[in-house]
Amino acid sequence: MMIDIHTHILPGIDDGAGNLEDSLALARAAVAEGITGLIATPHHADGRYMNNASFVSEQVERLKEELAARQIPLELFVGQEIRVHSDMLDVWSAKELATLAGSKYILLEMPSASVPSRMLEYIHEFVIMGINPIIAHPERNAEVVKYPDKLNEMIEAGAYGQMTTHSLLGGFGKQIERRAWQLCREGLIHVISSDAHHMERRGFRLREAYDRVSKELGVEIVKTYLDNSESVISNRDLIEPSVKSNKSRGNSWFKLPNFFHNIDR
Ligand SMILES: [Fe+2]
Repeated sequence: MMIDIHTHILPGIDDGAGNLEDSLALARAAVAEGITGLIATPHHADGRYMNNASFVSEQVERLKEELAARQIPLELFVGQEIRVHSDMLDVWSAKELATLAGSKYILLEMPSASVPSRMLEYIHEFVIMGINPIIAHPERNAEVVKYPDKLNEMIEAGAYGQMTTHSLLGGFGKQIERRAWQLCREGLIHVISSDAHHMERRGFRLREAYDRVSKELGVEIVKTYLDNSESVISNRDLIEPSVKSNKSRGNSWFKLPNFFHNIDR
């Protein structure tokens, strides 16, 4: 099973697929890559788009029918990419928010420039309610890029990290690519997904990303990432990645002083 937990496949409701044809093109490309299921995560409450949970469910049902009519073997699940905002917890009780595939996980998107000042508080509140936020593409947040410890704090508070395939493969530039690999090496990433929007603008590249991860970080971590994306739709606990790569580069050098110290003795 290969699951992609973050996609904009639903037609005409955000900046992803513009119409049914776009959605079908994405669905066919997913199947061609070996992807078996997608969680539809349209933008919600990001200042441009509002896609309430009940509306997303209806849209997913409609697209499922279209896939079935064309015998496209791809499972679809309900989700949302929820922009972090101050009344999230109020709208949670009003059932405006959707978890990922009905699980205990929600996908939270931070603004790209900074980490919201009450981020840890929000995570804490969700965790108390039995909900674990998955942070969408932290590698594209300027403050996390500068201070990866910010992400570490969120994970310690009960959140998880979702890495975007295109970041690992250089689609957002060298700096994000470097930081993306570093976050993976530091064990701050639990799931990889495409954030696919449109076949011409941003497709999946999921298999390609897993291949690269296997080469750079080893096959074990690929298994963890694959298992974790499956665990999201099955509502199981996610596994903490243990990165045992002898290819560690980047800032992982900070671990070296201990190593030398041990040798000296
Ligand atoms: Fe997204």
